[in-house]
Amino acid sequence: MSINITEKDVLNALDQVEDPELHASLVSLHMVQNIVLKDDRVSFDLILTTPACPLKNEIESSAREAVMALGVKDVSIQMKSVIREDPRLKNREGLRIKNIIAIASGKGGVGKSTLAVNMAVALGQSGAKVGLLDADIYGPNTHTMLGVDHIPAPQNGRIIPAEKSGIKLISIGLLVDPKQPLIWRGPMLHSAIKQFVMDVEWGELDYLIVDLPPGTGDAQISLSQVIDITAAVIVTLPQNVSVDDARRAANMFTQLSIPILGIVENMSYLKMPDGTHNAIFGEGGGVKLAEELGVPFLGEIPIDAEIREGGDKGIPIVKNKQDNASTQLFKALSCQVAAGISRLSHQDSHTG
Ligand SMILES: Nc1ncnc2c1ncn2[C@@H]1O[C@H](COP(=O)(O)OP(=O)(O)OP(=O)(O)O)[C@@H](O)[C@H]1O
Ligand SMILES: [Mg+2]
Repeated sequence: MSINITEKDVLNALDQVEDPELHASLVSLHMVQNIVLKDDRVSFDLILTTPACPLKNEIESSAREAVMALGVKDVSIQMKSVIREDPRLKNREGLRIKNIIAIASGKGGVGKSTLAVNMAVALGQSGAKVGLLDADIYGPNTHTMLGVDHIPAPQNGRIIPAEKSGIKLISIGLLVDPKQPLIWRGPMLHSAIKQFVMDVEWGELDYLIVDLPPGTGDAQISLSQVIDITAAVIVTLPQNVSVDDARRAANMFTQLSIPILGIVENMSYLKMPDGTHNAIFGEGGGVKLAEELGVPFLGEIPIDAEIREGGDKGIPIVKNKQDNASTQLFKALSCQVAAGISRLSHQDSHTG
């Protein structure tokens, strides 16, 4: 016997299901599309705000359960995603970059570039279109970490990014002779970095990850101003001196009205052969800083020789060590970052 339900019944049922990140109903978020009812079977598209959605499975099963409760025989859900665009970038003519995410720390050597590279590759693996811009004018090395030594020849006067491990890359290190010291600093370099966003043939990008140089001086401030950064991720070690510098970096972004997606703690511990954790750089600094700043703690990454090795070999750990625990941590972090961007764009759409 066939039951009598309409598209409106399906929408009403799905209106009761909330996106756990955005705290609003799937229907009000326009996530439900193309509902088809046939022979007591329902099919629809569920459009997530990022393919790297940490709660993808949870949302799908809650939606299925809600529609099954109408008494239908079967529910078929096509999971899709459309990443929303930072409204400020939308207004930039000719630019097809939806969101720009800066990776920063006050202190040098804490793992910004390592995080930027692995996060970019992980987001690319999830299905997003990702670019990486190495804006570290003092010591660019993301190209080394990705195993890239040149960019293609320019086309029609536009710079073409390198492509590796599923992402696009532009680094100052690919444009200047590596043997020459970088005397090309200051305003000229900043306008070059701006050009890297505006005049590089990026194509359409969901996320452009920007690896910023360490520090919170004039160089970092003006770089953060020349690029329209959607939000920043702050990296710190657990130790106090690194946290102090990370706090300065966070304050810099706050003063520039750039939202902070959260804190990543790198080199949190070294796993010993007996399974215990050796907290070489101290403990808990990342969580404490996140609490103090009132921003999410995005997660911790241990000291792992395979992370270092991947960087030196130009093959990021997330690319070819799928079973490694650090790979899983980088992937989870990337999902948290993507979810943070979704939350921001949701807030923007409500505050205008
Ligand atoms: N979790 C980790 N485990 C092991 N080695 C790591 C880890 N994170 C980073 N490294 C290594 O530590 C060194 C510094 O990392 P990285 O270059 O990413 O830091 P950075 O903050 O970008 O430095 P800089 O401030 O100089 O730009 C690199 O050799 C990298 O391979
Ligand atoms: Mg670096």
